[in-house]
Amino acid sequence: MGTAATKPVAKPETEDLKDPAYLKIRDLIYEISGIYQPEEKLYLLASRCSRRMVAVNAKTPAEYLSHLTTRANREAELRSLLNEITIGETYMFRSPPQLEALRTVILPQLIKSKNAMGFKRLRLWSAGCSTGEEPYTLAMFLMEESAKLLSGWTFDILATDLNDNSLVTAKAGIYGEYALRSTSELLREKYFKPYDEKRLQVSDKLKSLIRFDRVNLSDDSKMIFLKGLDLIFCCNVLIYFDLISKRKVMQHFHSNLLSGGYLFLGHAESLYQVDDRFRLVHFPGAISYWKAPPNYTGSEKS
Ligand SMILES: C[S@@+](CC[C@H](N)C(=O)[O-])C[C@H]1O[C@@H](n2cnc3c(N)ncnc32)[C@H](O)[C@@H]1O
Repeated sequence: MGTAATKPVAKPETEDLKDPAYLKIRDLIYEISGIYQPEEKLYLLASRCSRRMVAVNAKTPAEYLSHLTTRANREAELRSLLNEITIGETYMFRSPPQLEALRTVILPQLIKSKNAMGFKRLRLWSAGCSTGEEPYTLAMFLMEESAKLLSGWTFDILATDLNDNSLVTAKAGIYGEYALRSTSELLREKYFKPYDEKRLQVSDKLKSLIRFDRVNLSDDSKMIFLKGLDLIFCCNVLIYFDLISKRKVMQHFHSNLLSGGYLFLGHAESLYQVDDRFRLVHFPGAISYWKAPPNYTGSEKS
């Protein structure tokens, strides 16, 4: 779980919400991260700012805005504020139908086409990985398949997020029952070791399959360098973005993916009216977006 949902929230005064500095802070966050806070949710932003205002001893929203825009440490402060506002709700094996789609259709298809080119390596990206549950789930899934479908294959998983605190938790790989509630006893025994009375820690082998990094999906200078991916999971991230920032991220994802690669979003998310270059593919209980090879002439589209 991300930090924003767990810490106590200081309540801003109602009249403070009318302060135009909050709108400027909202616009700044949008510009940097793509995360859009509508006016009716401004109270949430204000309460998260209030924690940072206490931390930097800013007396008013306008003074805090100056910490974010003109002071020497503005970049560090902006990062701290982003750590407060992002929501990191997640758990392992959150979407079994996606894994079933991988096992039954997508992996066999990728294996066939990559085998034909002489490649036996898969590259996955968990974009917006929060505290790591999604990439560790993918790693366990691939490890299980490596004795079957993926025998002789290698794979690596890139896992990225904007939130520094989430990435620290992800790298540590220590989880309690909340995160593990959908993880079977068998997988717990195979891929975790005891950490303390209530928590388990991910095994070193599983950790070695994942590279964690801080990537802001709205940072073009980083996004353009992520190439050669077979699968992108960007689940429950773009719900916080508006249409313009979603479109921008999709342009990147389309070029980050190899031809024939697939993109998964959260189960309530879609690319309807966002991007029509991907082809929508239906699976039982899940959908995915396919980057069709240039010569593909099928008809199903998003
Ligand atoms: C609700 S969590 C989703 C976690 C996981 N993908 C899942 O579905 O269980 C959303 C994550 O998106 C991250 N996020 C939001 N905006 C982002 C951005 N601009 N760049 C990278 N990550 C971002 C947040 O920090 C948060 O960890």
